[in-house]
This record gives sequence, structure tokens and C-alpha cells, in this order.
Amino acid sequence: MRILLGAAAAVVVIAGAINAAAQTYPSKPVTIIVPFAAGGPSDALARLLGDRMKNTLGQTFVIENVTGAAGSIAVSRAVRAPADGYTVSFGHLGTHVANGAIYSLPYDMLADLDPVVLLPSNPMVVVSKTALPAKTLKELLAWLKTNQATATAGTAGAGSGSHIAGVYLETLTGLRLQYVPYRGTAPALNDLVGGQIDIIVDQASNSMQQIRSGRIRAYAITDSKRLKAAPEIPTAEEAGLPGFHMTLWNGLWVPKGTPKDIVARLNAGATEAMADPAVAKRLNDLGLEVPARDQQTPQALGIWHKAEVDKWWPIIKKAGIKPE
Ligand code: MLT
Repeated sequence: MRILLGAAAAVVVIAGAINAAAQTYPSKPVTIIVPFAAGGPSDALARLLGDRMKNTLGQTFVIENVTGAAGSIAVSRAVRAPADGYTVSFGHLGTHVANGAIYSLPYDMLADLDPVVLLPSNPMVVVSKTALPAKTLKELLAWLKTNQATATAGTAGAGSGSHIAGVYLETLTGLRLQYVPYRGTAPALNDLVGGQIDIIVDQASNSMQQIRSGRIRAYAITDSKRLKAAPEIPTAEEAGLPGFHMTLWNGLWVPKGTPKDIVARLNAGATEAMADPAVAKRLNDLGLEVPARDQQTPQALGIWHKAEVDKWWPIIKKAGIKPE
């Protein structure tokens, strides 16, 4: 009996300490681990939101770029961090879904993380260096067919958004692409502008500025509707490749067991950031779409995440994608 009472008292003390930590949270800067290179689409979104989350939570959000293995090194780091709300895992369809079907991971992406919030999504855009002769998607596909032994497609690694989109394009067209993996699509885009690689099937938000400045050429958006931010780019249907639809969604997670109050505070910071008119305008300019308000709860991300794993793993396994 004495042992039982002692154990019960210990549980009360630990619960009290956790509640106290949640009440004062955050009392120091929070680190968001971004799984790709600085300057790319994941980094840009995490910085934009983190900067605004500071207003709600009263602490700085520090971005740490942990690159390699298409983001799985970063997620692994987050999984092993203390469950105290000071380490947040930023990721997307690639890092938090596809990687589980490609790599032998030292963690379970559904069981070892707790969901915080679903973040904006964007379609992919097929872009090339300007030196290519092709001016339309049909011409590009014909050029890729003729040059498939040497034509190069930049990606952020096997399982990244740009890679899954490239594999999807191969599946629909029967083409074979020569992939060049980078630590993010920021360095891949630099090489596209410099002419070292031929194409990227990139997140629209990453390519937008270079498309507008004419340094790269855009052929088609992987969505059924044109982007408000770039209405001149045709949809894949309009450009002659029906069914080429893919939206890359993003999210935030914390290590499993992070107190619910802390998750709720992080969620409030992110939802307020997405509702801020200045942030919303910036997201819109980049071609990113904010999820509906009822999709912004931790529970909604949990359900969505599981559904995406169930949907994509069989497809990715069947495609036989191997780690690079
Ligand atoms: C990045 O930030 O570099 C991207 O999210 C990479 C990708 O998944 O294509």
C-alpha cells in the first residue's frame, strides 16, 4: 500500500511539474528543424510562419536547417529531442510520408511524433533552364524523350517533393529522367538558373520569383486550376498532360508525448500566423494555399497524415524508389 501511495504521489508531482512547464511555455527560444537547405520552399515557409508565431507566443522561433537523406536526418533529430515543445519538426508529404516507404528509418513517423498543425500547400510547376528549345509542355516532353539518356532533373533527394513529382511525370509519360539530388531545391534552382541542370518539377513557391524574372521557363502547374499568383502558367490539363495533379502539403509536429497544452499553444501560434493578413498576402504571392480553418487542428493533421501514409506508401513502393 505504501509503495502504491508513493507511486501515486510521484505521478502527481510529475504532472504538476509538466503543468507548470506548460503554463510558462515558452520561456526560451523554440527551434524549428527544417529538413532542407536554407532559401528553399520549406525554409521560406517555416521562416515566414515562425517570424509571426513570435507575436503570439512571445519567443523567437529559430530555424535550424538539417539536410540530407531527403529530410529523414532532420526528422530523426526531432524524434529524439525532449518532448518539451522546444523542438518542432517542420515537414511535408515527402519527409513525413514518402520517406517511410523508401528509407529504413530509425523511427515511426506516425507513432513517434505528435501532430501540431497542417500548413499551406502548393502545386508543383514544371520548369526548365531557358536555354532549352522547348516553349510548351508538349515540346518539353518531346525534347526529354529525344534526350532522355542525358537530360537532368534536379531534386531535393529520393523521396523529396520534387523527386516524387518527377517520378509521377515519368509514370504518366513513360519517360526516364536522370535525377540530380541536392540538399534542397534552393541549390537545385540555382543550378537550373545557371544552366547546369535541365528541369525541376518544383514547388511553385520556390520557382515563382525566377519565373517572373524570366531566368527559368515554366510549362505547367500540377493542379486543376491556374494559380492566382501566376495565371499565365497553364494547368497540366491545358498543356496536354491530363491527370498530372499533385499538391505538396506541409505541417508541424513535436516529439511524441509533448504536453497537450504546449501543442495547443504552438497550434494557436501557427493558426494566428496563417490568419494574419500580411502573412496571408505573402503566402498568396508565393502560390501557397492556406488549409480550411477546420483542418488546422492537431487532430485534423493526425487524421490527414495517416490517410496520406495509407494512400502514398503502396504507390511509392510499387514505383520502386530507392534511396540515393
Ligand atoms: C525544399 O525546401 O528544398 C523542398 O521542400 C524540397 C522538396 O521536397 O522538393
